[in-house]
Amino acid sequence: IKDIESDITEVLLSEEQIADTISELARRIEADYSDDDDLLIVGVLRGAVMVMADLARALHIHLTMDWMAVSSYGSGTQSSGVVRILKDLDTDITGRKVLIVEDIIDSGLTLSWLLANLRTRGAESVEICALLRKPDAVKVELDVRYVGVDIPNAFVVGYGLDYAERYRNLKSIGVLAPHVYA
Ligand code: PRP
Ligand code: MN
Ligand code: MG
Repeated sequence: IKDIESDITEVLLSEEQIADTISELARRIEADYSDDDDLLIVGVLRGAVMVMADLARALHIHLTMDWMAVSSYGSGTQSSGVVRILKDLDTDITGRKVLIVEDIIDSGLTLSWLLANLRTRGAESVEICALLRKPDAVKVELDVRYVGVDIPNAFVVGYGLDYAERYRNLKSIGVLAPHVYA
């Protein structure tokens, strides 16, 4: 049987390192919010599914969960900055404390647009939590309250992150072997 892990040249974050990073993020978030805040965490489909599932369970405060789906890449591989809402929130966020949960900040264009969009809806606060960030790829200034790990500007997959919709089910996060996309 061919193991999909063999398409990974280097593991950047092991399962254990991911779990530790999620725990750290959760402790920082818990320090800033209480049960009374009725925090709404918003996962950005589809990449953020794993982070949402693990982060939500690492948080020991009352919270609610919602999801958005946006398209920013179209058919190309480069982020265009042009974002369309494919699935909007089911929640009215007027007066709510909102935390957007993302797997990765690459150019930052998706989150920059999303942050501006949600801030027009009268939320009390909108913050961002991203598991990964690529400092060398960021194109826009973005105020991110919670970042897990800064990583090099390589093509990474796993733990929600895809290449052509595949590899999201890897338990670790690693660099995709060039032979896969060459
Ligand atoms: C990826 C990733 C982030 C975004 C980051 O999502 O999950 O949402 O790109 O890129 P940016 O900082 O350059 O905007 P993608 O559009 O691939 O959709 P997916 O989550 O369904 O994989
Ligand atoms: Mn995404
Ligand atoms: Mg993707």
